Amino acid sequence: MLNCVLIGAGYIAANHAEALIANESTKVVGVVCRNPEHAEALVEKFGEGCKYYPTLEAACAENKVDYVDICTPTPTHEEYTVKAARLGCHVLCEKPVTFSMESLENMIDACRYAGVKFMVAHVVRFMGEPAKIKDMVQSGALGDVHFFYEKRLCQHPAWSTWHRNPAVSGGGLYDLNIHDIDFLYSVFGMPKTIYATGWKSPSGCWNHVATTLTWDNARAVCETSLEMTGNFPFSVEQRCTGDKGTVVYSLSAGANINDSGVQVAFAFYPEGAETPEVVTSEDLGGFNGEINAFVDAVENDKAVPIAADEVKDVLRIILATKKSLEENVLVTL
Ligand SMILES: NC(=O)c1ccc[n+]([C@@H]2O[C@H](COP(=O)([O-])OP(=O)(O)OC[C@H]3O[C@@H](n4cnc5c(N)ncnc54)[C@H](O)[C@@H]3O)[C@@H](O)[C@H]2O)c1
Repeated sequence: MLNCVLIGAGYIAANHAEALIANESTKVVGVVCRNPEHAEALVEKFGEGCKYYPTLEAACAENKVDYVDICTPTPTHEEYTVKAARLGCHVLCEKPVTFSMESLENMIDACRYAGVKFMVAHVVRFMGEPAKIKDMVQSGALGDVHFFYEKRLCQHPAWSTWHRNPAVSGGGLYDLNIHDIDFLYSVFGMPKTIYATGWKSPSGCWNHVATTLTWDNARAVCETSLEMTGNFPFSVEQRCTGDKGTVVYSLSAGANINDSGVQVAFAFYPEGAETPEVVTSEDLGGFNGEINAFVDAVENDKAVPIAADEVKDVLRIILATKKSLEENVLVTL
């Protein structure tokens, strides 16, 4: 059994909590949060043997902590990762990992030096439908890929105010677009070129971004919005067209992905066939998938499924997208 400390007790921590409880190799022994009131409900949920701690040091003084799960706002990720590594804890950290390459290098170096594992929770890779589409591309089931379209649109988060501050959230570019960019990277690798256009909110956040990405043998358009207006539903689409047909996955929920009324369609339109095929995929849930994979790597001393170099590449793409947005240029990577 591995002892875990959950750091942060807000929106995403509540989602991780369910997956941590479901993981049979994990016991959550502590919740560290700047706000004890936030932590209370989670401590109760984790049950006997779990306590609130104001600091990670305090949690580690009372427990042997095998790993931490960092679910605090992005500017705190570096500090907690370095601290956890020095305390000998393996690190699972929410996305976006951090804002600069220098900060990311510090995190990776601290973990490498301490000999602990480090994984960033790029959750889309662990969701059933995207994983199935990735498999269809990489196995050749779609033939040569002509085009990939990726969309993720949501209303502005209502549960916090820090997302409005670009220095804290990085805006939709870092906070949401990174999901799609990481997924496209996991399918096609490092793109050759990036060109992005978008809308910057009055508080200075790139909150609606459309990016064109090219690889030697593929091209994609990726549209992400963290600030849809009106009562626009949370919507995701992944559509990939190749010689052998087109696969499309779409999801439409309420104002927030956790709201009821989720509608999902997943179909394959084979070339030459008159009717589409319904596609199915196995899905434990993205958060369960990522936490189970990380715990498996720690428990069995295996490499984590998302290597530090991949995290660096994804941050490089986001930084290139920012350059394209700010300078209106095509960026070659
Ligand atoms: N994977 C996803 O789909 C997803 C979704 C939402 C948020 N996130 C990411 O998760 C992170 C947290 O976002 P959120 O929406 O849960 O935020 P939130 O505001 O809902 O919760 C943040 C929590 O961290 C605590 N906190 C803040 N500063 C702290 C500090 N210095 N030390 C200890 N506790 C501190 C707050 O009290 C709060 O409990 C962000 O990096 C965000 O981008 C990921």
